[in-house]
Amino acid sequence: MLMIAKIDEILREAMVVIGKVSSRADLEAAKAKFLSPSGSLRELIKGVALLSKEEKPAVGQAINVCKSEIDAMLAAKLVEIESAEAESLLGEAPDPTLSKAGSGGTFCHPLTQIKNRIVEILGKLGFSVADGSEIETEWFCFDALNTPQSHPSRSESDTFYFDTAVAVENVAKSDSERYILRAHTSTVQIRTMLQQKPPIKILSPGTVFRRDAIDATHSPSFHQCEGLVVEEGTNVCDLKATLAFLFEELIGKGCEMRMRPSFFPFVSPGFEVDFRSENLGKLSNRWIEICGCGMVAPSVFKNCGYGDDAAGFAFGVGIERLAMLLYGVDDIRLFFKNDARFLRQFATPML
Ligand code: PHE
Repeated sequence: MLMIAKIDEILREAMVVIGKVSSRADLEAAKAKFLSPSGSLRELIKGVALLSKEEKPAVGQAINVCKSEIDAMLAAKLVEIESAEAESLLGEAPDPTLSKAGSGGTFCHPLTQIKNRIVEILGKLGFSVADGSEIETEWFCFDALNTPQSHPSRSESDTFYFDTAVAVENVAKSDSERYILRAHTSTVQIRTMLQQKPPIKILSPGTVFRRDAIDATHSPSFHQCEGLVVEEGTNVCDLKATLAFLFEELIGKGCEMRMRPSFFPFVSPGFEVDFRSENLGKLSNRWIEICGCGMVAPSVFKNCGYGDDAAGFAFGVGIERLAMLLYGVDDIRLFFKNDARFLRQFATPML
């Protein structure tokens, strides 16, 4: 059959032409040559109308097969061209020893998984991530947060101090003070309020440092995630609803939460938050303390130059603590040991 022979010929020609393609321009030209309205395959399709009823199905089918083969060759060529482009951008050949993305060879550390989940969940409520600094001055870590000189957290046995005093230009409090390693992420409340104007809705995950001897539940460096909302009219109900949403999303439906009055110098009123859940193994159905929070204290607003009508809330969640509870890990040191046998258990994100 003449038509079938012609179709075969077009396919053979397409193989040769597409095989030689080495640029996007060549690819477009090849596509036009065979598939455009004036291309050779289209020309042939026009001829189908003239065929007898018996011949039409076989020829039609052969044309379809030919077209899909040409499509496939063009698509494969495009992939080839794209990877050659990517390679030339990198300036070097891809490293075949790297594990393939999505192959299961790479995954986030369990603490990063928890951090990412918090950011993702609160992102749904409009929180964005604010940056902080691990090295701070006393003013940002304590004074601006209404923490008096006599507060135990300021002692040298609790906080890491550097020897060098620094001249502080941006803060009127004192001419010179010592650098420290921040003892909590609440420093970011101050940094953010000085940089941004309300409405403010930020999260700030990061590392904090305390002079604790390392044991199963303590580590001299660990991670917290701070939250801060500043917006006129904000009240305790907003704080409670935000945390209830976070814990329910993180821990699962049926998780209960309660707030107990507590004291932190930079919030008023201040609370400690506990949660209770049925799905926590040995810890099921027990109240577990999980975070500190409260309404931003008027003195903190004042230290940041805000007026009397400013309102907002803040909270600080311990990331290791959450990870230990949710994953059933009973020794904080496991998170820092880098033992692949431990870490591999989190290769499939549990959260
Ligand atoms: N910064 C507090 C801590 O480290 C937690 C906290 C954050 C409490 C925000 C109240 C408001 O314990």
